[in-house]
Amino acid sequence: MSNSKELLLPSALLESLRSIGYTLDTASADIIDNSITAKAGRISIRFLWNNGKPWIAICDDGCGMSPQELTEAIQFGSKSPNAKRDSDDLGRFGLGMKTASLSQCRHMTVVSKKGGALSAGEWNLDAMVSDGATEWKAHLLDTDALPKDEILSGLIAKHLAAIKSGTIVLWQNLDPGLGDPHEVDGEKRFSAQMDAARKHLELVFHRFLSPAFKQRKVTIDFNDTILEALDPFGSSIPARQELPIERIRVHGQVVTIQPYVLPHRAKASSVTEYQKHAGEEGYVHNQGFYIYRNRRLIIKATWFRLIPKDELNKLIRIRVDIPNSLDDLWRIDVKKSQANPPESVRRELKRIINKISGAGRIVFTNRATRLRNRKITPVWKRDVVEGRVRYGVNEDHPLVRGLLKDLPKAQVESLRACFELLNSTFPYDMYYADAADDKIEFENSGPSEDTIRQVGTQLVRALRAYGF
Ligand SMILES: Nc1ncnc2c1ncn2[C@@H]1O[C@H](COP(=O)(O)OP(=O)(O)OP(=O)(O)O)[C@@H](O)[C@H]1O
Ligand SMILES: [Mg+2]
Repeated sequence: MSNSKELLLPSALLESLRSIGYTLDTASADIIDNSITAKAGRISIRFLWNNGKPWIAICDDGCGMSPQELTEAIQFGSKSPNAKRDSDDLGRFGLGMKTASLSQCRHMTVVSKKGGALSAGEWNLDAMVSDGATEWKAHLLDTDALPKDEILSGLIAKHLAAIKSGTIVLWQNLDPGLGDPHEVDGEKRFSAQMDAARKHLELVFHRFLSPAFKQRKVTIDFNDTILEALDPFGSSIPARQELPIERIRVHGQVVTIQPYVLPHRAKASSVTEYQKHAGEEGYVHNQGFYIYRNRRLIIKATWFRLIPKDELNKLIRIRVDIPNSLDDLWRIDVKKSQANPPESVRRELKRIINKISGAGRIVFTNRATRLRNRKITPVWKRDVVEGRVRYGVNEDHPLVRGLLKDLPKAQVESLRACFELLNSTFPYDMYYADAADDKIEFENSGPSEDTIRQVGTQLVRALRAYGF
């Protein structure tokens, strides 16, 4: 075999790893999965632009690896996907640490401590190419030499020296997509991407960051800033509705389904709170199922094409908990960011949506009914003619009635023509687009005091004229 062909191997694999489609968000989540599985209580993500030689490290205080375990773990396919896993294991394929890391960097180093023993290994793609590596094998490192590496020794001193066990995964020689040192805004891009990754992790691991009663808590920080749980179901909002939980059995395992209806804009305790739960993409986009595998979010806001995302269901979010024993059936991918419900579950999900999609509508229609039932004569009337809604000026409003009565006939006709013009040009499209956009607030503060006084005086006059 020609040597040049063998030299192509590392870069060829690197390209295939990139095509798996990891992003900084999914790659960092994959490394954190390992820390959580290793029972870490504290996970620190350190990162530095480092004058255009940026690096990212994920450090945990979990159970760590012995030299023997690290030697196995750093190889591709260290565990079979068919192996039985502990029920709280977030892994499946024996690949994540390597694939996730090498999708974001060309040099990954793992240092671990267990039973007082330190061990380390690395995949350094550029070194492999320049050394003419002919096989895919990780390079094990001499731990006595680690203090000579400034970045590693700093991380070990801060994150491993004082604890009994733990692991550091260091990414160097980062993908230029994370922030190209040759570009003027490289550093800005790097910090923006780190910021976006932090938000992603606040959502993906929210049930570890803010656990339910008796569940294990995990603290994660980004350069010492503690991550805050981002709960998509708005658990802290009193007006949120929790619909009855359903449990379905699949191959002897239980899938738990908990639907929620978030409060209508008018019921949320503040505009900030309402917008926080809208998320960056808004309520319409964020409706749907949220699939959790061992409390870790793997897929968010999808109806699995069972129903379309529409305006009236926008407040419905359904939590689905699946165990890792059903990975095969749900076709979980290596990145843990895709899953497909098996046919038997799809049927159940469809039944549940049909039952509750009305609940989201109820929040809207109840409110509309309440508005319609108020014993106040509205200025705007809503007519439904042959299923079509039409808004218009209400001629029964006392002020309007007074005007129509007092004005000379010719002016009454002009005024009616004016109303007709307003009614027929109501900007339905614009209103619909604004109402669907959760970031837009309607000005609803009402008229000024002076206007109210003037209108009030005229109203009293008009009512008197009617004999009130
Ligand atoms: N932070 C860590 N602490 C302790 N052990 C770890 C840590 N990270 C990885 N390991 C060990 O390395 C092994 C390989 O990890 P890797 O992420 O490559 O695969 P996996 O987690 O088994 O499966 P998956 O590909 O689904 O992530 C793990 O099974 C675990 O035994
Ligand atoms: Mg893993």
